[in-house]
Amino acid sequence: MADKPKAVKSAPTYAADRTKPVTVATLLDMKRKGLKITMLTAYDYPTARIVEEAGVDAVLVGDSVAMTKLGYESTLPVTLDEMMHHVKAVKRGLSRALLVADMPYLSYELDVREAARAAGRFLKEGGAHAVKLEGGLEVAPVVKELLKVNVPVFGHIGLTPQAVNRLGGYKVQGRKPQDAERILTEARVLEGAGCCAVVLECVPADLAKEISRRLQIPTIGIGAGPHCDGQVLVSDDMLGLTEGGPTKFVKRYASLRGLAVQAVADYCREVRDGDFPGPEHSFSSPA
Ligand code: KIV
Repeated sequence: MADKPKAVKSAPTYAADRTKPVTVATLLDMKRKGLKITMLTAYDYPTARIVEEAGVDAVLVGDSVAMTKLGYESTLPVTLDEMMHHVKAVKRGLSRALLVADMPYLSYELDVREAARAAGRFLKEGGAHAVKLEGGLEVAPVVKELLKVNVPVFGHIGLTPQAVNRLGGYKVQGRKPQDAERILTEARVLEGAGCCAVVLECVPADLAKEISRRLQIPTIGIGAGPHCDGQVLVSDDMLGLTEGGPTKFVKRYASLRGLAVQAVADYCREVRDGDFPGPEHSFSSPA
């Protein structure tokens, strides 16, 4: 028999109202009220069910799916159709959380109309509420074009994994004063272009604090310290589903991969020893 689900610790009173769907306006309101925004990635239906039941405000179908679920070495190879497949699955698992779809590499950089068509598909076919795209000044025209077709946009600056080849690796960004200044400018330009929030990835905590102070829109940090208006993590990382040790900015709240490997090893041993299936897992003929 399946284990009875344990009750989840009650939701903190400082979370957004859990009876209402989260919208981009909710996130703005949370910033104004000083309520921290919680965001996690999900790539499939069961994970969407879990993160929503646990009370997360926003769910990102990140292009990190390329690495976490599809086995690619970077986010670059994942296609719009592959992303759409995952967005639809996550959508079926959500009823309250805001659903954000990541625009994959080369779906938005080359042509603003192509970008608007791709982003619009995430809303029209995938049921997403917003999209996220990486980059600074160069993507401001894209943000404006997406707003013309009523697609809310999350910016993403600092370490932008789609630019890993140009950046020379997954490194902290904005440590030098001129780089910090540029990232602050990018944040302001994205806000000016109409972004509803901006993800800050792998930047020093004091820079993220300054950006969060200067912007009216929420900042969502990943490896950007505690002063952002919200936090996002890759769910596989924080649940301990990924191989290898976590990077510095990831906190592991569980070690599910180890549990899964042990469970599969136990199953293999019991089948080989003839201990599974036992009588309780077998059917008998009517007497
Ligand atoms: O793809 C992703 O998971 C992301 C987060 C790291 C913000 O973009």
